[in-house]
Amino acid sequence: MTERDYPALLRQFDLFDPAHEEWKYDAFAYAREHCPIVRTEAGTGFWLITRYEDMRRILEDWETFSSVQGSPAPTPVRLGPLDADPPMHTGLRKLLNPVFSRTFALRYSDEMRRNCRDIIDGWIDDGRVDVINQYAGPFVSRTLARMVFDEDDPEKMARAIEVVDRVTEEGTPESFFDLAMLSAEYLAAAQDHPPERDGVLRALVTGEIDGRPVPEDEALGSLNVIFLGGLDTTKSAIGHIAMQLALNPELESRVRDPRWVRQDMDEFIRLQSPVATFARNVTRDVRVGGVEMKAGDRVLIRFDSANRDDAKFPDGSCLRFDPPRGGNAGFGLGIHRCIGAHLGRVQIAIAFEELLARVTRLELDCAPEDIVWKPGIANCPESIPVRFKKVSS
Ligand code: HEM
Repeated sequence: MTERDYPALLRQFDLFDPAHEEWKYDAFAYAREHCPIVRTEAGTGFWLITRYEDMRRILEDWETFSSVQGSPAPTPVRLGPLDADPPMHTGLRKLLNPVFSRTFALRYSDEMRRNCRDIIDGWIDDGRVDVINQYAGPFVSRTLARMVFDEDDPEKMARAIEVVDRVTEEGTPESFFDLAMLSAEYLAAAQDHPPERDGVLRALVTGEIDGRPVPEDEALGSLNVIFLGGLDTTKSAIGHIAMQLALNPELESRVRDPRWVRQDMDEFIRLQSPVATFARNVTRDVRVGGVEMKAGDRVLIRFDSANRDDAKFPDGSCLRFDPPRGGNAGFGLGIHRCIGAHLGRVQIAIAFEELLARVTRLELDCAPEDIVWKPGIANCPESIPVRFKKVSS
């Protein structure tokens, strides 16, 4: 760790400042050792939660640490279960959990494989690819658009994919607005779907919470967060794993072994923490880790710091596969634990099975220090350029 004034840096840590990406892991490591719950004045002002045990305590107490308006930056739209507390949260999860089961995700596996193959056909002869923008991004957005909108008309599907693609590529307010408009259209149309067209839309338009239809803003909010939660996260996990394969060639044989999905995938996710952070609002005065918090304070859970806490994961800044490490919070903990974890894992598994069927010996096509990580809620690289050899058929 280079010597810097970490207490001063932590006081102004801003999750949306690209320059802070450069030193945040060193600053969090410093904080875990010296000041594990530390105040930053950036944005609305937050208590940064950097240790695993403090994070766990907070995530397991939703009454004291509420998710209502829990986004670190104000959002013009609701975020479904992510910014709800029980009973609304419980109701939404009950409706949505069945359409995010592993079995439900596997229904789409043939289509996911076809998507991967089509995308790979586009660059296989070039010997190089940007894994984020030319593979993971288009694959994840096509899969999600298909699963959520359940569109049979190829032209309409192409339009939906284009709108979702723009959110992953640009992430601008306009692109989110277009997605929200499209979601509203699909929700309205789903009122007339026959019962056999089960899926996310039908769950939201026909489902009830406490005997009442799902409020419109909560249904739309749920669609928003499914896209916000499902795009950059899975895309960046695929990019990060590809980067690790390029940096550590001995890992390729591990990922070629189908057992990697159960044994090793979560270790990649722990180290990277594709969801870097999310916030909670303190509802009553409380003491955590020796710090007095007041009702109305905000906390910023740093999944990416807690997941590297040596007290929980010895040598936490490195990949260690054997023995498997339990308890990582890459998909969160407590009632807001990721609803898309099964889908995310299925997508990542298929993305690598299809990729490694066609290419081998990935190498970074830039210096490791040239990989730029975007600031924000997700830990997502801007691009992962790699070179590869074709698998001889
Ligand atoms: C590698 C992929 C993924 C990772 C690492 C990830 C991580 C997370 C984490 C850490 C949370 C908890 C946030 C909190 O407690 O504040 C979360 C919640 C959530 N995720 Fe994911 N996620 C992934 C993929 C997905 C996918 C594919 C979807 C949907 C298509 C999704 C949808 C959601 C939703 C809706 C929530 C809110 C759940 C609730 O509040 O009950 N995620 N995710």
